[in-house]
Amino acid sequence: MPHHPIYPDLKGKTAFVTGGSGGIGAETCRWLAASGVRLAVGGRDEAALSRVVDDLVQNGAQALAIPADCTDPAALDGARAAIEQRFGPVDILMAFAGGGTARPAAVHDTSETDWRSALDHNLTATFLTLKAFLPGMRERRSGAIVTMASTAGRAASAASSAYASAKAGVIMLTRHLAQEVGPLDIRVNCVSPSAILTERTARHMPAEQRAAIAALHPLNRLGTPADVAAAALFLDSDCASWITGATLDIAGGRLMH
Ligand SMILES: NC(=O)c1ccc[n+]([C@@H]2O[C@H](COP(=O)([O-])OP(=O)(O)OC[C@H]3O[C@@H](n4cnc5c(N)ncnc54)[C@H](OP(=O)(O)O)[C@@H]3O)[C@@H](O)[C@H]2O)c1
Repeated sequence: MPHHPIYPDLKGKTAFVTGGSGGIGAETCRWLAASGVRLAVGGRDEAALSRVVDDLVQNGAQALAIPADCTDPAALDGARAAIEQRFGPVDILMAFAGGGTARPAAVHDTSETDWRSALDHNLTATFLTLKAFLPGMRERRSGAIVTMASTAGRAASAASSAYASAKAGVIMLTRHLAQEVGPLDIRVNCVSPSAILTERTARHMPAEQRAAIAALHPLNRLGTPADVAAAALFLDSDCASWITGATLDIAGGRLMH
């Protein structure tokens, strides 16, 4: 296991990480666990969820698999009930579920089905996740939330316009919510990665393509799930207690605002 920074203020807290069954979310669970956070790991693929949870438990963490589709409000309500029963209320919400469901295509070639799917699995899934966990956080007047955008949602690119629009929506949703719940001491921030090499992308990306993508970034490499986990953990911690409504580009310098 790589060295993880420890945030003592996170110890004993409960986190729900959607998209925790693989890639960036699974790595973020490992980093949170190192700080003593109890993990509710969300996803749809039950076998993948079990692998992540077993690994966390074998390394001494308290972890629970939460199979739930984030486009389904009833499933999210069930998830909240299951987490509260086992660990108590959620202090940290990492709304990471999503991905590029639509094929990259020009607007005029994007089907209505692909458009709706990208919006549903990224923007609406994030909205529904926030809605399911906000009432408890509002009542307790505390919480840290991190949402997941993408460089695709920050600047026009060759990515799917539907995915890019959904991720841009996540950024604005994050800002709105941060403004609403700031007076309740709930912080809401967004991470916006570029070109993260997960197990899934590593399987499908030939070496020449990796090199071409790396060259688009001043730091001349692809990002890792750990790069995103490190930034997200900081945003969860008291070290970021004066930061809310921010979008943090984790993009090797590809975007400089
Ligand atoms: N990799 C990158 O370069 C990159 C860059 C920018 C942003 N992102 C964003 O980072 C997030 C994680 O991506 P990743 O690269 O780590 O991909 P990944 O390995 O494919 O992970 C995607 C995760 O999201 C979950 N998920 C997707 N739709 C869901 C839904 N409707 N309900 C519940 N869970 C759902 C998947 O769960 P199951 O597999 O269990 O269904 C999986 O755990 C995504 O939001 C993606 O858009 C990734």
